[in-house]
Amino acid sequence: MFQLTRSVTWQALKGLQAETAFDRIRDYFAADSKRFEKMSLRVGGLFLDYSKQPVSDEVLATLIELAEHSALVQRRAQMFSGDIINVTEDRPVLHTALRNLGQGPLKVDGQDVMPEIQRTREQIRTFSEAVRNGEWTGFDGQRIKDVVNIGIGGSDLGPNMACRALLKHRHPGLGFHFVSNVDGAHIQKVLSRLDPATTLFIVSTKTFSTQETLLNAHTARRWFLDNAGPDADVGAHFIAASTNKAAAMAFGIREENVFEFWAWVGGRYSMWSSIGLPIALSIGFDGFMELLEGAYEMDQHFLSAPFAANMPVLMALIGIWHINFQGAETQAIVPYDQALHQLPAFLQQLDMESNGKSVDIFGHPVDYKTGPIVWGQTGSNGQHAFFQLLHQGTRYVPIDFIASLKPEPGMEEHHFALLTNMLAQANAFMEGSQTGSRLDPYSCPGNRPSSVLLLDELTPKNLGALIALYEHKVFVQGVIWNINSFDQWGVQLGKRIAGEISERIDAHSQDFDASTQGLLALVRDHFPR
Ligand code: F6P
Repeated sequence: MFQLTRSVTWQALKGLQAETAFDRIRDYFAADSKRFEKMSLRVGGLFLDYSKQPVSDEVLATLIELAEHSALVQRRAQMFSGDIINVTEDRPVLHTALRNLGQGPLKVDGQDVMPEIQRTREQIRTFSEAVRNGEWTGFDGQRIKDVVNIGIGGSDLGPNMACRALLKHRHPGLGFHFVSNVDGAHIQKVLSRLDPATTLFIVSTKTFSTQETLLNAHTARRWFLDNAGPDADVGAHFIAASTNKAAAMAFGIREENVFEFWAWVGGRYSMWSSIGLPIALSIGFDGFMELLEGAYEMDQHFLSAPFAANMPVLMALIGIWHINFQGAETQAIVPYDQALHQLPAFLQQLDMESNGKSVDIFGHPVDYKTGPIVWGQTGSNGQHAFFQLLHQGTRYVPIDFIASLKPEPGMEEHHFALLTNMLAQANAFMEGSQTGSRLDPYSCPGNRPSSVLLLDELTPKNLGALIALYEHKVFVQGVIWNINSFDQWGVQLGKRIAGEISERIDAHSQDFDASTQGLLALVRDHFPR
């Protein structure tokens, strides 16, 4: 059996790590005046500079060899062609089909899936246009003013992040709200500001069985019926994005208002499907198509560029260098763009739910680290919060800086300050400052790694490309680690036990550990039956 850590390339990388452990990144620049040109690349409206990463030419070449010796070419082809690569759930993984703007069929179980995808896209077009132009009205003929997306995880984070990122393209007459938490405070706060007659609820749930979403959807329906008066019509105010049409209809949603998608779309990869409906409602269907187009272009780049010039592959390999050889435990995502403030949360789910695995695709335990802890928040706020630890703390934390170049009209001074702050930080992390002895509390050690990703402008198209870039980065890492990036059994365990605990609260169940029983007793006191 192939063992990754015993492979010649893995061992060579271990050797290179030892050899380069005391290298300074800045010396690589001194030794090679073309380093920036060599270690940066453009794909469409995205520009990546990875020259401030601690990789020598030899390290990079060996990392590329690691990718070449992996199953990447084969697994990538399998993903795009609809083979079953999500082996534990026995499913293909076809979010790329949702943004496939090329011609030609794509068969799953002998059936071309493209016609259904196009049909659903048309449904999204018709519906989003009708809501946006006021043709779709609530039960009493008023146009829709507020849209509430009820969903969690992948059924929340993608559309939530994208709607916020593209806020400046939003329809001026529509407000968007996202309710995810089972904590009633979340939905209560949102509903308290709304008028039932002008509010549209989207129940976004792949399975239509997620406890949090169903509870919130029922609370929303009760609120609607309690407040809308005798003519209230649930069917005129509730729609669904789901693979479970029957359950959505049983909830009271009209058949024609269930926007379908398919089992082969993973939750965290679903913003390109009907789950992206809030995006189409917010920025318009054409904008939604631009988002898909950006992702499609990144897909084409990922499929065709040689590994040495392939943006997702390079980002994945640099991540592997950090995680498996340099000992990094986390990856910071720091967008210098307030509109991207939900991006770290989105990428956190994408990466951690995908690659938080410790057995390979054959079910054998792995003897290497897999997905990192992904975290972050916007700059320049982060500079005044956690950057201190990144500059002078004891941990090694790679950072992805993300920003868009084009300033908002009238905000040039702000944007200039934003971008120069980001460049200053990336520079400072690499250079550090030596003011005296090694114990000098004022000196920063430097040699801390970062990449800079620049978008020409934060457009729907560039956002689509950015998200697809990270999706493929996560995929490449999963392939090299030989894990299944598309299941989430740990999450399912939590869902199951939550169900069991709430079912057995009355039974004073002895099935749980003493701590859980003790805590349950305290909880029970607050819910007299
Ligand atoms: O968090 C686990 C998960 O299964 C995600 O993958 C998914 O996005 C989320 O729960 C919500 O599930 P559903 O869309 O079925 O409500």
